[in-house]
Amino acid sequence: MTVTGWVLFAALVLGASSSQVPRAAGSERERNCSTTPYLPPTAVNTTLRLRALRNAMAPLNISAYIIPATDAHLSEYIAERDARTAWISGFTGSAGTAVVTPNQALLWTDSRYWIQAERQMDCNWELVKDPSIRGITDWLITHISEGAEIGFDPFLFSIETFKAYNVRLAPANRTLKSLPDNLVDKVWTDRPPLPPDSIFKLPDSIIERSWQMKVGDIRQQIRDNPYKPTAVLLSALDETAWLFNLRGNDIPYNPFFYSYTLLTLDEIWQVYCSFVHFVVPKPFESLQPP
Ligand SMILES: *[C@@H]1O[C@H](CO)[C@@H](O)[C@H](O)[C@H]1NC(C)=O
Ligand SMILES: *[C@@H]1O[C@H](CO)[C@@H](O)[C@H](O)[C@H]1NC(C)=O
Ligand SMILES: *[C@@H]1O[C@H](CO)[C@@H](O)[C@H](O)[C@H]1NC(C)=O
Ligand SMILES: *[C@@H]1O[C@H](CO)[C@@H](O)[C@H](O)[C@H]1NC(C)=O
Repeated sequence: MTVTGWVLFAALVLGASSSQVPRAAGSERERNCSTTPYLPPTAVNTTLRLRALRNAMAPLNISAYIIPATDAHLSEYIAERDARTAWISGFTGSAGTAVVTPNQALLWTDSRYWIQAERQMDCNWELVKDPSIRGITDWLITHISEGAEIGFDPFLFSIETFKAYNVRLAPANRTLKSLPDNLVDKVWTDRPPLPPDSIFKLPDSIIERSWQMKVGDIRQQIRDNPYKPTAVLLSALDETAWLFNLRGNDIPYNPFFYSYTLLTLDEIWQVYCSFVHFVVPKPFESLQPP
């Protein structure tokens, strides 16, 4: 968001809250998981969802499963079908990490979202008021036994995120187990479908450089690079959209389409996705709408 965007956003938020009637004393709109539990109407009953996920975890012999709130392109803004943290926990905030074990379910998120989480999660979930990976690994080391395996979906972890977990878990003899089939997707029976293809070309009148020029520039950088890479892989959605002057509508309020690009000195591979993870790459020409 630009600075102007933030100022406008802040003005809207402050304006909205100052015009609201102050809430009654107490916090009756947040859940209360005491002996006589109270759940606000906004809380989601996750009992059956958690049971299904745990049933999927059991044959894999994992002691915990990590569910980050991102998609397979590590997007910050995601489509509903990628909102796995929201589906499993009820919490719809844009940042948070869920961990599910055979008998516990926890959500780590930052202070922007604590009240929201208390209104959306039921008492199956524990809120941890700390968004750090260190906080998550400390909890795992305390609650998961030595030698145990912790499952994760490799499409939802950057290499840096993996390293941040592993640098603390590995010395403590807890192993991260890569599970390419996402376990939430497996049990999410009414998961929203992929949107229909929405890809379109930017009009020539607003394009500063053609995709051929941009590809040429990147190939020059490949040739000049001392590491002599054979290819460049683009996985972030804005990268492919920018490079080919294309836009789409796969994610609400974001002009992108699901895709990966593999660029070599003489080939362009597109994995352009009406798909969950990988499909057969389509020929590049099919990406160029008339
Ligand atoms: C939760 O409910 C219990 C029992 O009804 C009450 O004593 C306690 O104050 C409540 N907690 C909050 C934070 O409202
Ligand atoms: C949540 O759903 C389960 C399974 O349908 C049900 O047994 C339980 O009573 C529900 N919990 C609440 C708090 O409504
Ligand atoms: C399951 O995991 C435990 C560690 O949590 C390990 O001791 C055991 O050998 C594993 N069993 C199988 C069948 O892999
Ligand atoms: C991890 O396992 C190794 C080999 O079994 C052992 O020597 C080491 O002390 C363990 N590390 C911790 C932190 O328990």
